[in-house]
Amino acid sequence: MIEFDNVSMRFGDLTVLEPFSLSLAERRVAVIGANGSGKSTFARLINGLLAPSTGTVRVDGLCTAKDARAVRRKVGFVFQNPDNQIVYPLVEEDVAFGLKNLKLPKAEIAARVDAVLARYGMESLRLRPAHLLSGGQKQMLAISAVLVMEPAYVVFDEPTTLLDLRNKRRVAAAIAEMPQTAVVVSHDLEFLTDFERVLVFEAGRIVCDAPPAEAVPFYRELMAAEAGGV
Ligand SMILES: Nc1ncnc2c1ncn2[C@@H]1O[C@H](COP(=O)(O)OP(=O)(O)OP(=O)(O)O)[C@@H](O)[C@H]1O
Ligand SMILES: [Mg+2]
Repeated sequence: MIEFDNVSMRFGDLTVLEPFSLSLAERRVAVIGANGSGKSTFARLINGLLAPSTGTVRVDGLCTAKDARAVRRKVGFVFQNPDNQIVYPLVEEDVAFGLKNLKLPKAEIAARVDAVLARYGMESLRLRPAHLLSGGQKQMLAISAVLVMEPAYVVFDEPTTLLDLRNKRRVAAAIAEMPQTAVVVSHDLEFLTDFERVLVFEAGRIVCDAPPAEAVPFYRELMAAEAGGV
């Protein structure tokens, strides 16, 4: 369970998220909304990458500000820009790095890395320099490196933006199959039809909180109304 209690977010004088309280217990939650509406900020609050300006964020009772390390282990985060996530020179090292930090036995690390690379169609890239991969390949690497850790929750910030159709389907299938709870920020509305709950952000507020059948048309109308007004 992810709980926001009277949370708001400011950067200097700029209020990016107005105060809100919310509990997320669904396994598939999507976050949609205009550019700059606060989606990535909301996502970063969940795993403690950002601490809220007011209020508290809890994941299974752990406070993201006070129990930051435990929260990071519990909540994996896939960044909007995969360059932020690449740590090691080679693809296979990058995927193995989090498991090595946990000091797992070598054989187990190798088995988990092999499985994840096979699962995401990355086997042929395993000895390639990570920073030379294409944008979409880097995105798949970032996703592999998070999922190999088997966190209880995974937050995805626009995981499909850079991907071709095949990889988009891979990621959509991976998220659909994941036993974990996923919170997915996306502009890809097609992708959200199976989700249980959709939050629509607009100028730092959650303006709709509903299943996709209601939230997606709401968002389309919101965007159409604004475009008409320009
Ligand atoms: N560290 C920061 N310092 C100052 N302002 C910030 C910071 N991070 C985000 N902002 C501002 O907060 C607002 C919301 O940004 P955020 O990245 O959450 O939007 P978003 O909904 O994810 O947008 P996009 O769809 O373009 O990714 C923007 O106006 C942005 O400029
Ligand atoms: Mg964003």
